[in-house]
Amino acid sequence: MGIDHVEQRSPTASELYSSATDHYIWPQLSRQEVAGGVPQLLHDGDGVRVRTVDGDEYLDLMSTVSRASALGYGEERIARAVYDQLRRLHYGGTAHSQADVTIELAERIAGLAPGDLTACVFVGSGSEANEAAFKLARFYHHARGAKPRAYKVIARWNDYHGAAGGATAASDWLGVRRPMEPGVPGFSRIPSPISYRCPFGFGHQGCAGECGLRCADYLEQQILHEGPELVSAFILEPIAQADGVQIPPPGYLQRVKEICKRYDVVFIADEVITGFGRTGEWFSVDHWGVEPDIMTMAKALTAGYIPLGAAIAGREIRDALDGYHDIHTYGGHPAAAAAALAAIDIYEGEGLPARAAEEGAHALGTLRQLEDLDAVGEVRGLGLWAAVDFTADPATREPLPAETLEAIVSRTRELGVLVSNNGAAIEVAPPLIIGREDLDEGLGRFSQAVREIVG
Ligand SMILES: Cc1ncc(COP(=O)(O)O)c(C=O)c1O
Repeated sequence: MGIDHVEQRSPTASELYSSATDHYIWPQLSRQEVAGGVPQLLHDGDGVRVRTVDGDEYLDLMSTVSRASALGYGEERIARAVYDQLRRLHYGGTAHSQADVTIELAERIAGLAPGDLTACVFVGSGSEANEAAFKLARFYHHARGAKPRAYKVIARWNDYHGAAGGATAASDWLGVRRPMEPGVPGFSRIPSPISYRCPFGFGHQGCAGECGLRCADYLEQQILHEGPELVSAFILEPIAQADGVQIPPPGYLQRVKEICKRYDVVFIADEVITGFGRTGEWFSVDHWGVEPDIMTMAKALTAGYIPLGAAIAGREIRDALDGYHDIHTYGGHPAAAAAALAAIDIYEGEGLPARAAEEGAHALGTLRQLEDLDAVGEVRGLGLWAAVDFTADPATREPLPAETLEAIVSRTRELGVLVSNNGAAIEVAPPLIIGREDLDEGLGRFSQAVREIVG
């Protein structure tokens, strides 16, 4: 008796949306939002355009919302590199062996990272990269012996560092920390430079440090308050995502670095969003010539093609370590390493960091034309990462209601362009490969939506 061949039917778009309501837990969205059709089910894409299962096509100005897809969709060179690597060696082990390609990647990243940053730990995500940074700091203090009990981490109000235990405890954005409290002990936070709505009431001309960098000096007070001998590390997003692209005032990063050095606190820069050219330099700290003790990265490291995160430490930390106990079965997976090497070849070969600076300056100029609207409080940006910060009242700088921002985002989507609301702001972070024509088309449609809704 023969076996009947059953044709597998692909699910229809409406079946997929129904399964997405019933069988998938959407982070950050309420059941109502999901049922109301907020999430999109993506099916395919190429270049800067992506299509949903319903066949609608969008110009993606957000690099797939998380800003990971720095090289856009359908990048053949990365897909091929991954395929070739899997055929040659699909896995290299963890503690006692590793794939050649993973070591090659470590050296490549060390060559791009600022100054003395030199030795990598590979993990699967940005969250894990930050966990690795916290662990490296503790192992360092323990091995070095000057502050063997140091375990505390100071982070900042409004920064985000990820979804794992320590990274969540360090986070103050996207609502991830509070539901998990009491979380990992030893984490505390200080105010951060928030342009347009300075936590100390300064920043009337944007965040220009006219206050004498009070938020940087706060770090010293917090270290003294927590006990310098117990403070292991300080972590920040050099350019924070909260309320959109918070560029630190001149001197801020230098000041916090000095304070960390004074109290022997490991300075960690989280470059998970900003790494690999997004802001017009390889890493955002390069804009200020500041070298952290540890830097973390993910997202654009593989341009979103395969999950990979990394923490890179300076020589002093590398040399002090007396064994580093942190095992990830898939840390530095060869397929991810091959994807990262291919992505870096493209960033380098096509001069994408410099291109991001140039196209970003053009985008910022276009977006600044919206500043004639009362509802637009400030337009900020660096490289291909920009934000329009909206206000209900320019005198008080109160944010516009979230529903109004959502209406702008959804009108922009109706016009065929993807942007994303982030607190009081709407963000634009297109793939770094975007051409001038597409950039102008996308920004033009977004500006049209803004003027229709709050003009
Ligand atoms: C600045 C920053 N750090 C860390 C993370 C966590 O990265 P992942 O989601 O890859 O764990 C994110 C994710 O959005 C991030 O934006």
